[in-house]
Amino acid sequence: MTGTLVSLLKNRIGHEFLDFEDHSNEESVEGRVVVITGANSGLGKVVCGQMVARGATVIMACRDMAKADSVSSEIKSIFPTAQLHLLKLDLSNLDSVRSCAVNILEKFPHVNILINNAGYFGVANTVERTKNGLEKNLAVNHLGHFLLTLLLLGHLKKGSPSRIVCIGSSNYKWSIPNPDDLNLQSEVNLGLFNVAPTSKSKFCVMLFAKELGKRLEATQVKTYSLCPGLVDTGLFENFPWLLRCLEIPGINEDAHVHTVWKHNDGAETVMYCALRKECSQESGKTYRFARYWPEADADMDEDLAKKVWTASEKLAGVKFEEVNSNGFDRKFLRKYKSNSNELGQGQKVIPMILGPAYKNKVAALESIYTNDKMDLFI
Ligand SMILES: NC(=O)c1ccc[n+]([C@@H]2O[C@H](COP(=O)([O-])OP(=O)(O)OC[C@H]3O[C@@H](n4cnc5c(N)ncnc54)[C@H](OP(=O)(O)O)[C@@H]3O)[C@@H](O)[C@H]2O)c1
Repeated sequence: MTGTLVSLLKNRIGHEFLDFEDHSNEESVEGRVVVITGANSGLGKVVCGQMVARGATVIMACRDMAKADSVSSEIKSIFPTAQLHLLKLDLSNLDSVRSCAVNILEKFPHVNILINNAGYFGVANTVERTKNGLEKNLAVNHLGHFLLTLLLLGHLKKGSPSRIVCIGSSNYKWSIPNPDDLNLQSEVNLGLFNVAPTSKSKFCVMLFAKELGKRLEATQVKTYSLCPGLVDTGLFENFPWLLRCLEIPGINEDAHVHTVWKHNDGAETVMYCALRKECSQESGKTYRFARYWPEADADMDEDLAKKVWTASEKLAGVKFEEVNSNGFDRKFLRKYKSNSNELGQGQKVIPMILGPAYKNKVAALESIYTNDKMDLFI
C-alpha cells in the first residue's frame, strides 16, 4: 500500500494537468451519445459537465436519482441547452443493470462513449454480499459494468468509432483475483480494514478492458482502463472514522495538501481516454496521469484476463458470443420484454424458452442465482 502511495506522489510532483479548455487534441463529441455511470458525484460529475460543455448527449446512469437530478439541474443552470438523460442504475443488482441497458437500447440509436465510472470501496470486516449473493465490491465495480458493457456492445459498434473507458485503480496491486473463487465464496471474515475485495475487483475491471480490447481487435470499438490518481471524493466515506481523521491525503476531506487532486484534475485521465486523439487507435491498455501506464499494463496478464473473463460470464449470466452476434440487441429486447410481461416477482424463465440443450447450463446458473429471476439470454 505504501509503495502505491509513493508511486502516486512521485508521479504527481511536477505533473502538468490537462487543460480542459484546450480541445485541439480531442475528438469532437458534439451530438454524440456518452453514457456515464455514477455521474452524480465526484469524477463522474466532472466528466458529465465536461461532456455537456462539448455538446455531447449525456446519459447519467445513476443509483441515487435525487442526487442525479440535482447535478443535472446544476449543469443545466450553466448549460441551459444541455442534453442530459437520467437513467436508474444500481450496479449491485443485475436486474437493474439489464433494465438500464434496455432503456438505453430502446431510447438511443447508438452509444459512442461508455464510461464505467461508478465505484465502491468497501472496508467491512466481513465479506459484503448483494441481494443476489455477489460480493459487493466485485458486483458494483466489475460485474455490473461487465454486464452493462456487453449488453450495450451492439450499440457501441453502431456508434463506432467508439470507446469504452473503465475506471480501475492503482490499488489493483494490493491483491490478485482468484478466477476459481472470484465471488469470494470461501471467505467470510476479512479482519480489520481489509482492502482485498476492492483491490481484486479493480484488478478485474482492468483485466476486463484488456481482454475486451483483444476480442474487439477487428472493430473500431476501443477499450481503456485507468487509475485517476488519488482524489478526495466521496469514495472514502466508508472508511473507519479514525482513519478518516488522519491527515492521509485523499481520505480526509480537509487534507487539500499537494498530494490531493481537486476533482477537475482527477478527471483528466478519464477525459484523456475518452476523447484524446493520441490514444484513439490504442485499445486494451492501461493509463494514469493522462498517459499510457506501461507498468500496470504489463501486470494485466493475458492468461489471468481470460480466466477472469470466463468466471465473470458465469457470475453475470452473459456470453460474449451471444452479445457479439448480429441482431443481439433486437433479440435481447424482445426476450426481455416478453419475460418482464409474463413474470412476476421471483418467478423464473422456464428453460423451455432457452431450449433443452441449455438445461445443464441453466441448472448450473440456478445454483448461483438462487434468488434471482432467470431472465438470462443464453
Ligand atoms: N477518488 C479516488 O482517489 C479514486 C482512486 C482510484 C479510483 N477511483 C475510482 O474512480 C471512480 C469514481 O469514484 P469517485 O472518486 O468519483 O467517488 P464518488 O464521488 O464516491 O463516486 C462514486 C460513484 O459511484 C456510484 N455508485 C456507488 N455504488 C453504486 C451502485 N451500486 N450502483 C450505481 N452507482 C453506484 C455513486 O453513486 P451514489 O451517489 O448512488 O452513491 C457515485 O456516483 C470509482 O470507480 C473509483 O473506484 C477513485
